Amino acid sequence: MQTISIISLKGGVAKTTTAVNMAYILAAVHKKKVLVIDNDKQGNASKAFNRYDTEDKNTIARAMLERDLDISEIIKKTNYEGIDIITANMDLLEANLRTVVDTGRQQQTRFKKALAAANSYDFCIIDNAPDINMSIINALVMTNDVIMPIFMDQYSFDGLNILLEQIAQVQEDFNETLNFSGCLVTQYQNNDVNNQNIEKLQARGLPIYAQKIRRTEKKVSESTFAKIPLVEYSVRCGAAQDYKKFVAEYLGYAK
Ligand SMILES: Nc1ncnc2c1ncn2[C@@H]1O[C@H](COP(=O)(O)OP(=O)(O)O)[C@@H](O)[C@H]1O
Ligand SMILES: [Mg+2]
Repeated sequence: MQTISIISLKGGVAKTTTAVNMAYILAAVHKKKVLVIDNDKQGNASKAFNRYDTEDKNTIARAMLERDLDISEIIKKTNYEGIDIITANMDLLEANLRTVVDTGRQQQTRFKKALAAANSYDFCIIDNAPDINMSIINALVMTNDVIMPIFMDQYSFDGLNILLEQIAQVQEDFNETLNFSGCLVTQYQNNDVNNQNIEKLQARGLPIYAQKIRRTEKKVSESTFAKIPLVEYSVRCGAAQDYKKFVAEYLGYAK
């Protein structure tokens, strides 16, 4: 199983949109089996797949707290062939707090251990909160590829160095296979601010995906309200087409 973490310390950069649509494209276009993990107490990825429930006790929080969890107890089917999900809600906040004070058992490797039995998937996509907390460290410990969505506004680089340091630290301490796969430019508009920021990013030597995701005002928010992945909601819209090309690029297929 190839595990991808969608991560950034900033909110609103299209982490969830990227995670949901990447999962959908991998399953629907490339016929892969995909497990989505919602690792954000806001539960936006769970909402996108219409599986959010504030009272649900079978969420990712259990993978933080229980030593011998049967992972199938928290995996839910979605409405889409080939996509299952582990959801999140506010229980993840308490699970994080409890894990930090529970030094009796290793704190950083809990997801990795709990997910070891979920081996029937080709890909696992983790949608992370804009934070560095124990559940995000847990996500990085089980991740192969980090994808960082970047929205090119004037604050796009906030927190970038701290995040890169954390990734390097997890790589050194727990996970040699952790790879910074690349930055994904989201909500792209062809203007000076966007293009100058992309040049700044390139100057830092960070890998950037060639395919950018265009800003597509109406369709993206409509798809969020409809609780349908954008690519299914409006296959012809710019962002949907860009996400398809981006996933092909990620998989290493020629365009
Ligand atoms: N390509 C796009 N074009 C227009 N709006 C977008 C695009 N991608 C995301 N959005 C919108 O931006 C907002 C933040 O996206 P979201 O995926 O929730 O970000 P994050 O998970 O990083 O907080 C949402 O309202 C979403 O609908
Ligand atoms: Mg989100």
